[in-house]
Amino acid sequence: MSKRTVLTGITTTGTPHLGNYVGAIKPAIEASHGDGVRSCYFLADYHALIKCREPEVVHRSTLEIAATWLALGLDTDKALFYRQSDIPEITELTWLLTCVTAKGLMNRAHAYKAAVQENLDAGEDPDKAIDMGLFSYPVLMAADILMFNAHHVPVGRDQVQHLEMARDIAQRFNHLFGEHFVLPEAVVDDNVAVLPGLDGRKMSKSYNNTIPLWLPEKKLRKSIMKIVTNSLEPGQPKQTEDSALFAIYCAFADSGQRKAMRQAFADGIGWGDAKQQCFELINTELAPARETYEALISNPARIEERLREGAERARRITLPFMRELRKAVGIRPLV
Ligand code: TRP
Repeated sequence: MSKRTVLTGITTTGTPHLGNYVGAIKPAIEASHGDGVRSCYFLADYHALIKCREPEVVHRSTLEIAATWLALGLDTDKALFYRQSDIPEITELTWLLTCVTAKGLMNRAHAYKAAVQENLDAGEDPDKAIDMGLFSYPVLMAADILMFNAHHVPVGRDQVQHLEMARDIAQRFNHLFGEHFVLPEAVVDDNVAVLPGLDGRKMSKSYNNTIPLWLPEKKLRKSIMKIVTNSLEPGQPKQTEDSALFAIYCAFADSGQRKAMRQAFADGIGWGDAKQQCFELINTELAPARETYEALISNPARIEERLREGAERARRITLPFMRELRKAVGIRPLV
């Protein structure tokens, strides 16, 4: 049996934080070391344009995210690692798919619907500030996935609907033009921790509660000291449930360390001590990769080269496949 393909994209609109690391990057890199799969990871810089109008942010984020994945040990001999915008076949396929995508399907996309609802609630025109990028976003995402005939797509729960749409679009194309596409499946891992942020809500750029992944040691410590706690004194027993600090600690701890921290909470460990232990644990895990990260970031040419190599390998797949697809829809030389 041929290898299953696992593919996922990372939108380049921000600085990687501990939540990205625990929830997506670390499990993906671990999975990529397995032999049974072909894995594809890409920097979704065209997706970034949908959310971000600041060229410097998109550019810097692309650099930081690429450096992060490389520093954390992504094996680019095994996994395909590329930048979406380096693969022109993806945008070409987006058009072929756009032509078979029902507008009604796009009308039902959560992100688009939420934007319309917000306008209506504010008494505005329903289309206010909604551009075609947001509306067509699921088609671009379908092209990302179908271009590589991915079987499995690890994503957060918020992306499951986009995978259903990708399947719908693939089915429609296959029905019209022949069996070209694998129908992809979303993989949502419920065992992967959703990390709380400094204020206890989900760690997310939009809540402004993140701990950036590559803070220098002192700043990392300072940031961890800011995790919200309550006013219980040292010596008073503390609850682990609903403790952001405990959850963050656990995301980095092995089972013995978790057990010990649970006991320390029951025994009334002071918040300062618990935070210090949390800092040490996280810092120990990140320190070696941090050095690599810093070396990479200060040498963008090396990263650029790795991405170009990735694109070249990716295009060995996408170029012939796109030729086949163009032919299938009737776009080919006249003689
Ligand atoms: N839309 C995804 C997100 O916001 C990122 C993404 C773009 C993606 N293309 C993809 C994920 C293809 C998986 C497969 O998280």
